[in-house]
Amino acid sequence: MQQVPDGEWDQVWVGANIATLAETGSYGSLHDAAIAVKGERIAWIGSAAEGRRRGAAMGLPVDEAQGAWITPGLIDCHTHLVYGGNRVAEFEQRLCGASYEEIARAGGGIQSTVNATRAASREQLYRAAAVRLGHLMAEGVTTVEIKSGYGLELTVERRLLEVARELGKTLPVSVKATFLGLHSLPPEYAERRADFVAAVSGAWLTELAGDGLVDAVDGFCESIAFTPAEVTQLLEAARQLKLPAHVHAGQLSDMGAVEVAAKWHALSADHLEFVSTQGARAMAAAGTVGVLLPTAYFTLRQTTPPPVALLRDSGVRLAVATDCNPGTSPCTSILLALNMACTLFGLTPLEALAGATRHAAAALGELDDIGTLVPGKRADLAFWRIESPAELCYALGANPLIQAMHRGVMRAPPAAA
Ligand code: NIG
Ligand code: FE
Repeated sequence: MQQVPDGEWDQVWVGANIATLAETGSYGSLHDAAIAVKGERIAWIGSAAEGRRRGAAMGLPVDEAQGAWITPGLIDCHTHLVYGGNRVAEFEQRLCGASYEEIARAGGGIQSTVNATRAASREQLYRAAAVRLGHLMAEGVTTVEIKSGYGLELTVERRLLEVARELGKTLPVSVKATFLGLHSLPPEYAERRADFVAAVSGAWLTELAGDGLVDAVDGFCESIAFTPAEVTQLLEAARQLKLPAHVHAGQLSDMGAVEVAAKWHALSADHLEFVSTQGARAMAAAGTVGVLLPTAYFTLRQTTPPPVALLRDSGVRLAVATDCNPGTSPCTSILLALNMACTLFGLTPLEALAGATRHAAAALGELDDIGTLVPGKRADLAFWRIESPAELCYALGANPLIQAMHRGVMRAPPAAA
């Protein structure tokens, strides 16, 4: 975390309620409080009276928050935001009785999005992703993770990662780009699995990482995707390059993916509907964050929720994300994900909010910089018209965001505010 010299502020917001999320197990609520910003950092947090006094002494115009709640900017730590086409036809098929796995094995599923993504131009990919990202930002998201994985050939994987980087450069939001090289086996490699895994973990990763396009890697460990041994190959290659990892683990079955994630000290293991006691303990010991994706569980109409009590009691930090993707989670609402984390998975509102702030930051390896409100961290803030932080998980379909600040700069308010 950077040190901000005391006494030098650019702006100060007073008369706010602040949920710092600075300690685990508490919102860290401060009432009639103030927060000061210097450059792109939080400079100071304290009482409104002190904020007014010090701001005035510095000759600063003091901004009135008028009782708004201020939380850390929300962090969506698992998305597949950049893709072509949509999968509404499969949504209909599933409602007529076909399962996600059956559709995937018949050449639909991820592969159908791969076809649409390969056919899309860079501009089309950027424009469609920017619209989806706009919806997330309108709900106070200031950092988003974006995975590749719908190209499955080097040039298209590169394009997806470049579009992710471009989104982060052109829009007031921070983007973490993840190379999801092992998402699905493309048909051209149907008889050459080992060659595909070797290419992804070898030449592709080296080139993409060498060009600065990769913040982390990811692999989908599942019977319709890749084995623990194959995902291990990618994690091993990532370690050589000093890149962190995420693993899609335990979404449809327990293949031991969580244990692989823990063994390689992955930043996160994501989904977790199927995880053993041993797996949960291994995650806790490794510090691997569990990322829960309730809107994917909901969309697939799954019936076995993640063992939240086991994960919680084992000491696994839990994050919550949208998993925005065309197949299992056509969701661009982080607030809906928070609601479903509570209603479907039994998280408390505090756990859910911590899951899209401090623990989401940990899942991205960024807790030193974002995820809680403490001096020195980035001034990524969300201002809400609510009476208590639990309201962020409670309402369905409302958007109480007033405004969000990204790196010390206030963004335009969402259209309905
Ligand atoms: O996180 N599980 C793998 N990946 C996505 C789904 C991808 C798709 O169906 O297009 C997920 O659910
Ligand atoms: Fe996913």
